[in-house]
Amino acid sequence: MKQYQEDDILSGELTEGLITLLDTPEKVNRTKKFMDMLVGYRELMMMYTCAIKEVRTKFEVLDTEFSVRYQRNPISTITTRLKHTNSIMEKLDRYGQRFSLENIEEYINDAAGIRVICSYIDDIYQIAESLLVQDDITLITRKDYIINPKPNGYRSLHLIVSIPVFFANFKKQMKVEVQIRTIAMDFWASLEHQLKYKQNISNQQEIVEQLKTCADVISSTDQQMLGIRQQIEAASDVMTEEDILLEKLSRMDMNIGS
Ligand code: GTP
Ligand code: MG
Repeated sequence: MKQYQEDDILSGELTEGLITLLDTPEKVNRTKKFMDMLVGYRELMMMYTCAIKEVRTKFEVLDTEFSVRYQRNPISTITTRLKHTNSIMEKLDRYGQRFSLENIEEYINDAAGIRVICSYIDDIYQIAESLLVQDDITLITRKDYIINPKPNGYRSLHLIVSIPVFFANFKKQMKVEVQIRTIAMDFWASLEHQLKYKQNISNQQEIVEQLKTCADVISSTDQQMLGIRQQIEAASDVMTEEDILLEKLSRMDMNIGS
């Protein structure tokens, strides 16, 4: 009979290998449970991936509607990410919880993440409210780091929402973390994020201060850009209703977006 090594177990020649390598039924049972968990983990990650698709589509729908009604795209880009396994493990550990499917669902709010980048600050709130009024969306937490920036200058609107996802034979509520911010806030956050991965920066304090100054300048520029856009919009408000209708008709055949 073939003698199995640990590698065989990892590469999939399971049951026979388990019996020769794991000498007691108890060990076999434990290993099978662990493998069940791995299969369950992959399925859970699939479900989070689907939840991301659902929420992403909601934002794309809002952007498309907005572009046809107001000839302007409130959303500049959308990025999504599934949290890496090692980050999930590290976070559960930090919370003093063991790694299990139940604990991931209970304690990890950002396994599924979606980042929506807008041009203007008012778009952030409009897009967020348009999402939150939808009757299949449940708000779990809302953190407004735009009104209350972090001490380092970080600004962004964070929402944890729950959304039902329909699979072949069941429906499941899934949590998704949504971060909404302006292009400029995102530019800042990506540079600031790099600081976290550098241990030995001699002028760390100086960089922290420079970043804080940049965050304040960015915030003030975001406000000014919004003000300018609103002035331009107010100036074109002198159009009559007929003018507006004609303008919309002239856009009849424009691409609606896919
Ligand atoms: P995490 O444990 O990091 O998820 O934080 P939290 O559970 O307290 O949630 P919070 O809403 O404060 O932050 C969630 C996410 O926002 C983080 O994982 C980052 O992606 C982003 N974030 C929060 N604070 C900062 C910051 O100071 N700088 C940058 N670059 N990103 C941040
Ligand atoms: Mg996080």
